[in-house]
Amino acid sequence: MLNCFVTTLDSLATPILLIPQKLSSDWLARQNEFTKNWLSTTNNLRWEPGTTLLLPNSDGKIGRVVCCIADERDFWSVGSLPFSLPPGVYRFEQPTDDQRFSIAWGLGAYQFTRYKTSTKTSAQLFLPDAANAAQIFNIVESTYWVRDLINTPTDDMGPTELAHEAVLLAKDYGAKLTQLAGAELLKNNFASIYTVGRASDDPPRLVELRWGSKSHPKLTLVGKGVCFDTGGLDLKPASGMALMKKDMAGAAHVLGLARMLMQAKLPVYLRVLVPMVENAVAGNAYRPGDVIKSRKGLTIEIGNTDAEGRVILADALAEAASEKPDLLIDMATLTGAARVALGTELAALFTNRDELAEKLLHFAEEELDPMWRLPLFKPYRELLNSPVADISNAASDVYGGAITAAVFLKEFVPEEIPWIHFDMMAWNSKGRPGRPAGGEANALRALFAYLKDRYARH
Ligand code: BES
Ligand code: ZN
Ligand code: ZN
Repeated sequence: MLNCFVTTLDSLATPILLIPQKLSSDWLARQNEFTKNWLSTTNNLRWEPGTTLLLPNSDGKIGRVVCCIADERDFWSVGSLPFSLPPGVYRFEQPTDDQRFSIAWGLGAYQFTRYKTSTKTSAQLFLPDAANAAQIFNIVESTYWVRDLINTPTDDMGPTELAHEAVLLAKDYGAKLTQLAGAELLKNNFASIYTVGRASDDPPRLVELRWGSKSHPKLTLVGKGVCFDTGGLDLKPASGMALMKKDMAGAAHVLGLARMLMQAKLPVYLRVLVPMVENAVAGNAYRPGDVIKSRKGLTIEIGNTDAEGRVILADALAEAASEKPDLLIDMATLTGAARVALGTELAALFTNRDELAEKLLHFAEEELDPMWRLPLFKPYRELLNSPVADISNAASDVYGGAITAAVFLKEFVPEEIPWIHFDMMAWNSKGRPGRPAGGEANALRALFAYLKDRYARH
């Protein structure tokens, strides 16, 4: 159980009153002299989202917490409370059925403690309703897991360890897991995955998880699992390589999403395909100019060994598409260009169905889990033409790199399959309430909300 929550009470929980900013002066006007004096002495009456005030009771203990939020929906502002409030048990004062406030609390209590003992103790939030608590735990625990996987450095989270995490997940939920590793990939016609990963001491892999009844609609998830991206022979500079332990975040995201879906027992037939490799430098590394015969049969000329994500995804997507899923979703830290276009906070969304984009953008807004649609712009396909192969993995133009990467992936997904591709950062360069610095899940809560809406029995 997460130690930032309690579901039973030994003594009273301190109430937290959430006040939307525009209602704050009305609220203040209604308070007695004691409270008005206390607030003007301690806070100078400045009300901004996140402003948190402790009101004493007659014993000099905390009688009530007042937290200013931007508006009724601003659940993120409570994300700083677990570490800003004195340790103790709290509850939200308004009876709220909006779980998102509790989720923000949970997400704000995250710490990565694998290598450093924590010195901070989280305040605890009382969750009165057990059913609600189960759903909150699902989202918070799954997100913690995604963050942990991303934050763990490659020496402890290479292809072997990442695959092991998938094995443990499958065990927990009674899913079927199969793996191909090293030369087995070549034998089974996954040359793209093999070739990108062959220079690492930790052999490349493809992990497949299946769960649920075949009678349900098939949902297939694919994630980029580049456990470290040196760039390969087209080596990244130090500044570009520094964060590349996070290049398996797409894999972490789809495993985290799978966990959410299985925990929620969503009636889908789930298939998760995760290629896991290290894009390493060695004598046997793949080279610029090499040509790979991909699973789909298309030949790929390597224009740049640093555009490795799309190469491993090509084989995984081709395999995913071969079973004609009801919906295919891939997630990847695919391009620096998506970050240039949208910054670190917005996930880039690509899809071959307008109605999917509309729905996803709706849930992104609901969940304050931001994303922005970019186009699968057909005319850019010619930028991927190769003189020697069917396609090049690097565009001939430096512009529109997130789009050309998505257009490359599109070659491996037949038009008749509804497909969603996310190109995201998966990293908070600075901490914000509920979203500490470091590994982050992007678009995950929005996707989960969408998939529940689409597939749950109503
Ligand atoms: N993993 C990187 C993309 C990346 C970099 C994502 C920084 C998030 C933050 C990817 O494999 C890569 O290196 N892409 C190249 C492609 C280029 C060589 C065509 C890029 O974006 O520069
Ligand atoms: Zn790369
Ligand atoms: Zn990469």
